[in-house]
Amino acid sequence: MTNNTSIKQTFFDRWAPSYDWLFPSVVYQAIHKRLLEYVNLPTSANVLDLGCGTGKLIHRLAINFPNLQGTGLDLSPEMISQANSRNCYPQRLTFLLGNAEEMPFGEEQFDAVFNTISFLHYPHPQQVFNEVSRVLRPGGYFYLVDSYFKWQDEFQYLSISPGGLNLYSPTAREKLGEEAGLNLQANYYLLGAVLLTIFTK
Ligand SMILES: C[S@@+](CC[C@H](N)C(=O)[O-])C[C@H]1O[C@@H](n2cnc3c(N)ncnc32)[C@H](O)[C@@H]1O
Repeated sequence: MTNNTSIKQTFFDRWAPSYDWLFPSVVYQAIHKRLLEYVNLPTSANVLDLGCGTGKLIHRLAINFPNLQGTGLDLSPEMISQANSRNCYPQRLTFLLGNAEEMPFGEEQFDAVFNTISFLHYPHPQQVFNEVSRVLRPGGYFYLVDSYFKWQDEFQYLSISPGGLNLYSPTAREKLGEEAGLNLQANYYLLGAVLLTIFTK
């Protein structure tokens, strides 16, 4: 594990026990709700939530799609422990520890991959896109939700601190997708500067 990855893991391990009770989680759950308006899944879909945190989004998906099977993957053992302790659908939802850059899954396994407010933390974004493309079946969807401020246009991405947070413009997202064999379908602002980008394989 790189130094940056271990800093992120420690940060999220500390946050995990109080994560669902703090203000950001309320905002994130409002974002999940808005995201659902754009989600298109086959019956009995098999989906992955990358950087799932405590599992709130995948629970919401399980409620809205009663035949859905889901896996949540997260770098933080404490986040995974919280997700497992609150798993209301143990027959349908599984939570696993792992890095988005090197996923423990076979090829073309998922109908859709979700990623909410997590991509900004990844030190090697292209590697994550390549992994998403590898695990998605042809015709599958990638729902990428992260902040992007319009004044960033000149920069394509914003490095707030070394190895810290990177925020990607629609153009930068499209380029990452193209390299990985994913086609950008649409961009929608969900809440303030939080931008959903939908890709298909
Ligand atoms: C702000 S939280 C968002 C959690 C959840 N997606 C949500 O919408 O509430 C960011 C999550 O990304 C996870 N994360 C950060 N880097 C990761 C990586 N390289 N691989 C997998 N998960 C990662 C963190 O552990 C944390 O749980």
